[in-house]
Amino acid sequence: MGTSLPDGNLDYAALPDDGAETPVVSAPDTALPAGHSRSMEEGTLRMQETLRAVLVGCGGISTAWLEAATNIDGLDIVGLVDIVEAAAQGRAREYDIADAAIGTDLGKVLDATAPDIVFNCTIPEAHAGVTIEALQHGCHVLSEKPLADSMENARRSIETAKQTGKIFAVMQNRRYIEPIRRLRGVVDTGQLGTLTTVNTDFYLGAHFGGFRDHMPHVLLLDMAIHTFDAARL
Ligand SMILES: NC(=O)c1ccc[n+]([C@@H]2O[C@H](COP(=O)([O-])OP(=O)(O)OC[C@H]3O[C@@H](n4cnc5c(N)ncnc54)[C@H](O)[C@@H]3O)[C@@H](O)[C@H]2O)c1
Repeated sequence: MGTSLPDGNLDYAALPDDGAETPVVSAPDTALPAGHSRSMEEGTLRMQETLRAVLVGCGGISTAWLEAATNIDGLDIVGLVDIVEAAAQGRAREYDIADAAIGTDLGKVLDATAPDIVFNCTIPEAHAGVTIEALQHGCHVLSEKPLADSMENARRSIETAKQTGKIFAVMQNRRYIEPIRRLRGVVDTGQLGTLTTVNTDFYLGAHFGGFRDHMPHVLLLDMAIHTFDAARL
């Protein structure tokens, strides 16, 4: 099994490559001719040779994304952005993506690379700003959870996606872990009858350094979405 990330989630980079807990970044290619991948265009999936992606936020979780992205045929990481340039340079070296544009200014990297999609792996407080800028640049966005750090920023992000006609999706990896799928399967059998209430407890001293140390209500705002997401399955 993988090691734990601060979220209490598994470190995907340390997991065996069984695909079960890899962030989902594209639709399965089973029905496509060899050499083709699916790309997202104006809210629909269309085929093109290669999907070009810029990843923003080269901190802890970016390793899981880059591990997956660099192993997906037809997906190219064409840019890496972080407000700390050394962080982006470091990821470019680690994942051998030497030809990626590197920068601290998202707009400049988007202008230089014209990607199809932006992967938003920044801290929650930066999610809305990065998402909205990317959508307004004509990119689809696949973001780390949480969708945003406030309801106002969540609504602004969704409104921008509607206005631009681009896809804005939030990655919810924990819904794919085996215990959650098994629980879902038990509910589906009907053995528990009709569910009326789901109770959950979540206790964690989230003092790992970084944004979690200063974010108010960090368990609720940053991490509880995993539990809410499991409940809505
Ligand atoms: N799904 C999961 O299992 C899981 C696990 C861990 C983290 N996360 C999520 O991933 C996100 C990042 O978490 P992390 O642990 O990698 O944090 P981190 O602090 O390790 O990394 C965040 C990076 O973003 C950069 N950054 C901050 N603001 C930026 C901006 N405006 N533009 C560009 N770069 C910026 C920082 O410099 C840093 O390198 C959070 O939303 C967190 O909730 C999800």
